[in-house]
Amino acid sequence: MGLHECMSHFVLVLVLSWLLSSVCLAQERAFFFGNLSDSETIVSSFRTFRFGFFSPVNSTSKYAGIWYNSIPVQTVIWVANKDMPINDSSGVISVSEDGNLLVTDGQRRVLWSTNVSTQVRGNSSTVAELLDSGNLVLKDTNNDAYLWESFRYPTDSWLPNMLVGTNARNGGGNITITSWKTPSDPSPGSYTAELVLAAYPELFILNNSNSNATVWRSGPWNGQMFNGLPDVYAHFLYKFIVNDDTSGSVTMSYANDSTLRYFYMDYRGSVIRRDWSEARRNWTVGLQVPATECDIYGRCGQFATCNPLKTPPCSCIRGFKPRNLIEWNNGNWSGGCIRRVPLQCERQNNNRSADGFARLRRMKLPDFARRSEASEPECLRTCLQTCSCIACAHGLGYACMIWNGSLVDSQVLPASGMDLYIRLAHSEIKKPDRLPVIIGTSLAGGIIVLAACGLLARRIVMKKRGRKEGTDAEQIFERVEALAGGNKGKLKELPLFEFQVLAAATDNFSLTNKLGQGGFGPVYKGKLQEGQEIAVKRLSRASVQGLEELVNEVVVISKLQHRNLVKLLGCCIAGEERILVYEFMPKKSLDFYLFDPTKAKLLDWKTRLNIINGICRGLLYLHRDSRLRIIHRDLKAGNILLDENLIPKISDFGLARIFPGDEDEANTIRVVGTYGYMSPEYAMGGLFSEKSDVFSLGVILLEIVSGRRNSNSPLLANAWSMWNDGEINGLVDPVIFDQVYEKEIQKCVHIGLLCVQEYANDRPSVATVCSMLSSEIADIPEPKQSAFISRNAFIPRTGVSEAESSENSDRKASIIDVTITDVTGR
Ligand SMILES: *[C@@H]1O[C@H](CO)[C@@H](O)[C@H](O)[C@H]1NC(C)=O
Ligand SMILES: *[C@@H]1O[C@H](CO)[C@@H](O)[C@H](O)[C@H]1NC(C)=O
Ligand SMILES: *[C@@H]1O[C@H](CO)[C@@H](O)[C@H](O)[C@H]1NC(C)=O
Ligand SMILES: *[C@@H]1O[C@H](CO)[C@@H](O)[C@H](O)[C@H]1NC(C)=O
Ligand SMILES: *[C@@H]1O[C@H](CO)[C@@H](O)[C@H](O)[C@H]1NC(C)=O
Ligand SMILES: *[C@@H]1O[C@H](CO)[C@@H](O)[C@H](O)[C@H]1NC(C)=O
Ligand SMILES: *[C@@H]1O[C@H](CO)[C@@H](O)[C@H](O)[C@H]1NC(C)=O
Ligand SMILES: *[C@@H]1O[C@H](CO)[C@@H](O)[C@H](O)[C@H]1NC(C)=O
Ligand SMILES: *[C@@H]1O[C@H](CO)[C@@H](O)[C@H](O)[C@H]1NC(C)=O
Ligand SMILES: *[C@@H]1O[C@H](CO)[C@@H](O)[C@H](O)[C@H]1NC(C)=O
Ligand SMILES: *[C@@H]1O[C@H](CO)[C@@H](O)[C@H](O)[C@H]1NC(C)=O
Ligand SMILES: *[C@@H]1O[C@H](CO)[C@@H](O)[C@H](O)[C@H]1NC(C)=O
Repeated sequence: MGLHECMSHFVLVLVLSWLLSSVCLAQERAFFFGNLSDSETIVSSFRTFRFGFFSPVNSTSKYAGIWYNSIPVQTVIWVANKDMPINDSSGVISVSEDGNLLVTDGQRRVLWSTNVSTQVRGNSSTVAELLDSGNLVLKDTNNDAYLWESFRYPTDSWLPNMLVGTNARNGGGNITITSWKTPSDPSPGSYTAELVLAAYPELFILNNSNSNATVWRSGPWNGQMFNGLPDVYAHFLYKFIVNDDTSGSVTMSYANDSTLRYFYMDYRGSVIRRDWSEARRNWTVGLQVPATECDIYGRCGQFATCNPLKTPPCSCIRGFKPRNLIEWNNGNWSGGCIRRVPLQCERQNNNRSADGFARLRRMKLPDFARRSEASEPECLRTCLQTCSCIACAHGLGYACMIWNGSLVDSQVLPASGMDLYIRLAHSEIKKPDRLPVIIGTSLAGGIIVLAACGLLARRIVMKKRGRKEGTDAEQIFERVEALAGGNKGKLKELPLFEFQVLAAATDNFSLTNKLGQGGFGPVYKGKLQEGQEIAVKRLSRASVQGLEELVNEVVVISKLQHRNLVKLLGCCIAGEERILVYEFMPKKSLDFYLFDPTKAKLLDWKTRLNIINGICRGLLYLHRDSRLRIIHRDLKAGNILLDENLIPKISDFGLARIFPGDEDEANTIRVVGTYGYMSPEYAMGGLFSEKSDVFSLGVILLEIVSGRRNSNSPLLANAWSMWNDGEINGLVDPVIFDQVYEKEIQKCVHIGLLCVQEYANDRPSVATVCSMLSSEIADIPEPKQSAFISRNAFIPRTGVSEAESSENSDRKASIIDVTITDVTGR
């Protein structure tokens, strides 16, 4: 590279003048403390950036600035004297006697200065250095402290590893970038972009020539992505990172990779991400906002949503009507919409029927969200109890968000997006509509009362006509069998349990028999009259799916049999009850042993290796060998149960199929999973594939080797850095470490790291993992960068105290709607 470049410079020297030769002479320097004349430049150590005087396209004015050195297209990323150009080549950049960096013209007028108070006395001095990140720093030569850095005073560009926002406590305030006036004039233009660190960090584009009105907003940040950015994969390409340090300050930057890329604010008001294409020898546009009409802030007015795929794009939110119908129909949506029926709170006479919620799916959330203290599961109920709360949303690192006042700038996204719950009067909810609706009374407290009543009533009914329930289910079975074309004999393969039998076996689902609680419902230990022990999972929200589909699913899943899968013994469908019955696992789950220092000793390395192999084979069966091709979606140590012989059995497989959510809507399924085990593409975009299971498998592998829980320590990050430092042994659980097994253990870490690679395509399939484990594949490739989803990234503002017990934090860290817990165990 160096040679090539020097050659080309050599040619330039011949063709052009001595002027350029002085550039060539200056090339090796990344710093200066004296003067830099118009023709001199400095270049960063790896030659990525250059600093000196330049003239923009179609302009003869001179500016001091920083540009990309290694590419043929002039790309300026920072300008000093933006609005004080120099007409001729008399400009000088210098480190002045007081230690400041100055830009002066021929008359020695100071056009720009770093203007920091330096304490230059005696033999102390300052030096200006251009770092390879593109950061120009003014350093105190005594202690190398940065007195000033250009990264804190950006012009129109955000570069990798640059601080793009910091909260007030860090002394930073909002850091803004400002567009150039025109491509030939770097003086401040009409638009600025800034990261505002309010309740939720969010990017804004403002129009300075219109009283700083918002032009575009990104939607709130959940620790991994901005809710409103259209491309679910985008975060892999710019990777904003929120650091939440102990002082409570939040900073945001984005990490570099091998491609040159940066963000800049276009003079026309767009924020553009440019990626350098070596093939085209030019910049390509990686991302540009605003992109659609709906991206324009508040396009549809308040209480309306914008859908770029519809014409016209604007429509009132359910329960609202246009404020001015004539204007609205003429395409003037600025007036927005108003509520049709007042909420219960707003009424004088307190009508009995409580307000409820309409759920809007795939939303870019409206502006002015506030962070509520309520926990995620309590979010809707808390909102309902507060009159001022008119909408709420929760999940994915957002905790519980609420809106008061009005709803503006919401949008229906083509993919991903969040569920937004709009508070409506009861009468609005009862109206038939295709939108899914949740009625307030069926929430939380209500649910318990209703369920209790329902149970009582049902038990009385059942006593009277005990067999009726069974017959219902059998009829359904017959229909399913008929549909499937199977013979009726197969029916018997899945025993139907009667509700009373299960109630008796679990002592009426008593608390003392409860093994665990998950999003799909509680699990109880039970004992049948014959003495057989069972685990009983009582599904809580079974109405998600039609009865026939449910039975069909259960029948098929019950036929999956593998040594490393927990066996489904049968089910019970009675009235609204849907219960699954599994074999009982006396040794509980893997996490029960792994993360307990005293119990961990029970699992020596050979046992752990057997467990790893078993999990792999079970998963392989689900992915490849069963005719269902099941993706587990919630693989975790807590879902690996152990039998008497410590043989691992995967549990809860197939439940994701029983609760499919919106599978017909491509990748907008409700994310089911557990923090710490979710692949980035699944956690962020809801995109799941076999490779998301492989990711979880990799996490389990590393947990088994290290005896550490990924959710409590940055296990993946540690493993990755230890791998790079060649210090893998430091990761290994001391309980199992033995020189004899060193190679084997290291191989497991190696395979684990392959599974948790950031990009799904890089991860091996489960089949490959099994082959690598059994040494059928000898050549194991080097792992690439792991995906680190730290808890801080998920919960940027509130943070979770590390002191909490693992049990607690695990629960807290189970973000998203629903988490499945063990079928048995614990
Ligand atoms: C830098 O330039 C200024 C005039 O612009 C001159 O007075 C000064 O002596 C120069 N310093 C050095 C070290 O060349
Ligand atoms: C530079 O000037 C030429 C001729 O006036 C014009 O065609 C071109 O668009 C200008 N380029 C820019 C970036 O303004
Ligand atoms: C630039 O040139 C104009 C006249 O062409 C002059 O008035 C102005 O002072 C010059 N500016 C600087 C910074 O030298
Ligand atoms: C330098 O900063 C001081 C205050 O810190 C301010 O009064 C002065 O105007 C600044 N000078 C320039 C050239 O910006
Ligand atoms: C100057 O340098 C000497 C020796 O290098 C050192 O002892 C002294 O502290 C320095 N003075 C200042 C003001 O930094
Ligand atoms: C990005 O580049 C900087 C130096 O330019 C380096 O220190 C840092 O480790 C890099 N980060 C990543 C994630 O590669
Ligand atoms: C950041 O910007 C927001 C919105 O423009 C403003 O409300 C807030 O006060 C600013 N914060 C600081 C520290 O300047
Ligand atoms: C910014 O404000 C100016 C002046 O009000 C207006 O002409 C322009 O269209 C606005 N730009 C955008 C992108 O809204
Ligand atoms: C717009 O914001 C800038 C800084 O972000 C501020 O200096 C300016 O006064 C604001 N203009 C208006 C009209 O509020
Ligand atoms: C580089 O791409 C831009 C559009 O992004 C285009 O306008 C320009 O002509 C291209 N330049 C070259 C040299 O291909
Ligand atoms: C659109 O409606 C608003 C009032 O809702 C009005 O002020 C505005 O003038 C209208 N715009 C046009 C273009 O008719
Ligand atoms: C109260 O509810 C009844 C029916 O539930 C309805 O007819 C009536 O209009 C409601 N009152 C008010 C003030 O909304």
